[in-house]
Amino acid sequence: MDESDLNDAFQARIDAEEKIEPGDWMPARYRQQLIRQISQHAHSEIIGMQPEGNWITRAPTLNRKCILLAKVQDEGGHGLYLYSSAETLGISRDEMVAALHTGAAKYASIFNYPTLTWADVGAIGWLVDGAAIVNQVSLQRTSYGPYARAMVRICKEESFHQRQGYHIMMVLAAGSVEQKQMAQDAVNRFWWPSLMMFGPHDADSAHSAQNMVWKIKRQTNDELRQKFVDQTVQQAEAIGLTLPDPDLKWNEARGRYDFGEIDWDEFQRSMTGGGPCSRQRLAHHREAHAEGEWVREASQAWAKKQKQRKEAVS
Ligand code: 3HC
Repeated sequence: MDESDLNDAFQARIDAEEKIEPGDWMPARYRQQLIRQISQHAHSEIIGMQPEGNWITRAPTLNRKCILLAKVQDEGGHGLYLYSSAETLGISRDEMVAALHTGAAKYASIFNYPTLTWADVGAIGWLVDGAAIVNQVSLQRTSYGPYARAMVRICKEESFHQRQGYHIMMVLAAGSVEQKQMAQDAVNRFWWPSLMMFGPHDADSAHSAQNMVWKIKRQTNDELRQKFVDQTVQQAEAIGLTLPDPDLKWNEARGRYDFGEIDWDEFQRSMTGGGPCSRQRLAHHREAHAEGEWVREASQAWAKKQKQRKEAVS
């Protein structure tokens, strides 16, 4: 078949809801889009360990410390699943990490904000993992097999992440005046960056249209953002916190909440290295990566030795 026939046959598989697997023929652009999205998803999971990891030694109780430790470890595992999923497309871990370090690859801008109080850990679990769940539940139906399967495992763990964050906020909101104010302050700082996690408006999205045709995306940025707002408003009301948006109100005709406009200048700034913690997040990753070089060398040397032993006996 010529290129055009191959593309037609590929699209027919997508339309028939077949999963595309690593050994299958796929358009070069489909492969490139998956490498871009999956590797950036993985970078987000790994960089996202920093803001919360900042509070592991300062958690208010041993119980909270254990929960936060488990969550941050989960995020590291999510990053590894996703890097492994991206590697099935022919890119190496080193290439992905290099793209992160040069700025050629992005990660979720939400992680460029500081975690100033313990309530920020609650706001991240509740709002950031909450937004991630909305997005990732949809991605369980993505057309690329390894990505879809990684999402199933990740979504199970994200639910625990969101619940523990919401519980932190619930306890603080029911606590002293100062504790409730700390929780409200965290919501005020994390609400809008959480809405930015769903990307630009559909009309401004560079990739959505094609990626919906290829079913890499199953719902658009604005659809998922709306779903997150609708579910989160009641959660905030239930614990007596307010979302910092004067335009937020129920629209009976739409059966949805209307909400205000995101500061897209801030979105661009925080996404392209201008966030409050952008520089320190990447510097920390570069330093940790360099410190871990000996671990990678040792594991590769061991793997090589194992391979030689197997070849010697076969
Ligand atoms: N932060 C940084 N960059 C963003 C962004 C954000 N919140 N939203 C969009 N962008 C970037 C896109 O990467 C793209 O840039 P690029 O061409 O250089 O890659 C550009 O803005 C245009 O956006 P598009 O909407 O056209 O891009 P996509 O079609 O890729 O949609 C997306 C963006 C919705 C984030 C999509 O990539 C996606 O669904 N990714 C998978 C989910 C994901 O990455 N989640 C990150 C959070 S991980 C997490 O929350 C961990 C949790 O456990 C704490």
